[in-house]
Amino acid sequence: MIKKVDIKQLEVGMYVEKIDLAWTDHPFLRNSFLIKTLEAIKKLSDAGVHTVYIDTSNGLDAYNAPTEKEVLKEIEEKIINVVSDKESEEKVKKVAGYKKTSIYKEINEAKKIFRETTGIIRNFMFDARLGRKVEVERLKPAIEDVSSSLLRCPDALLSLSRIKHKDDYTFEHCVSVSAIQVSFSAYLNMNEQDIYNSCIGGFLHDIGKIMMPDYILNKPAKLNDEEFRIMKSHVVETKKILDEIPGIEEIAKQIAYQHHERYDGSGYPLGLKGEQISQAGKIAAICDVYDAITSNRIYHKGIPPHTALGKLLEWSDFNFDKLLVEQFIRFIGVYPVGTLVKLESGLIGVVVEQNNGGANSLFPIIKIFYSSKYGRYINEYHLDLSKENCNNKIVSIISAEEININPINLF
Ligand SMILES: [Fe+2]
Repeated sequence: MIKKVDIKQLEVGMYVEKIDLAWTDHPFLRNSFLIKTLEAIKKLSDAGVHTVYIDTSNGLDAYNAPTEKEVLKEIEEKIINVVSDKESEEKVKKVAGYKKTSIYKEINEAKKIFRETTGIIRNFMFDARLGRKVEVERLKPAIEDVSSSLLRCPDALLSLSRIKHKDDYTFEHCVSVSAIQVSFSAYLNMNEQDIYNSCIGGFLHDIGKIMMPDYILNKPAKLNDEEFRIMKSHVVETKKILDEIPGIEEIAKQIAYQHHERYDGSGYPLGLKGEQISQAGKIAAICDVYDAITSNRIYHKGIPPHTALGKLLEWSDFNFDKLLVEQFIRFIGVYPVGTLVKLESGLIGVVVEQNNGGANSLFPIIKIFYSSKYGRYINEYHLDLSKENCNNKIVSIISAEEININPINLF
């Protein structure tokens, strides 16, 4: 049985099945191992791990600890509570009012903008590495393109951002974090100037990675202790580069310097705690981790967005500002556009539109394309789960690999 235990309950002889922290946030090469010494527990604790999941069939049991199933059920209930409140309903209705274009119309334009912006960020970062003069004005057309696509239809760019290419991961991650940061900041009613500067902060938040040795930056496997330590210095390198670029506003710097700080003080480079971290820095931490864990790497499968929201909520006990994570869940919605879902009837489809926020976001519009009952593709059609005469409901999230499909190709 898989159980969740506090690090203080962890004993020699227990078998760690999974570390309860974003894989980007800890230096352990393996997630599963038998605890053989007290030092092993200390090492976990020193790395900022507060809880782990243990497998009681491979080691000692922790009798009062909740099972993974119980934890997941509780998280699902929390997510539903978070999105069901009135504030969410009002806010999403307001934001939905801006959406003028459907994802079907916007997706190709968004693909083009994503590709071009990635190229701009790539060149910008390489020029910075070569010590060439880089000017923030160069980013202006990209900021305008990204912002206007998000304004027309945020779902298009946001669902694209989950697809990354091996060689361009770092640059695509920067574009993607920026798009999430911009639309979440707009959702939080930030003013236009701050949103503009948040876009710059997102674009450049990892610019220091360009100074990392190539074998570490593009390593097709998880980093070891020493490589992890070196990689952490990308924030310091980012600061050095940004300090040389005139016209970078404070909010963009906060995003770049604080996106690895954690609410409990376990982050880096400064180990800032709670309110020592700026609002933009706290938002950046959430956007950065959300993008990393929903993206595929060679050595790590991205998790579906819905599952990622649950993880953020779980980690917000220590790592993030809880209230901001709740806002983030309301902003993303229970089943973001592009999520593959299985319905009670066995039909499989992709979420193409979230119904107007609040509790309604539990009942999105799905494009059905596959029947698991018959094991084959079927003629596509749209099903609105919020309609009274619709007797179907979502029973599970499907990963893209399970049915070997790229959700973006369905738009
Ligand atoms: Fe980073």
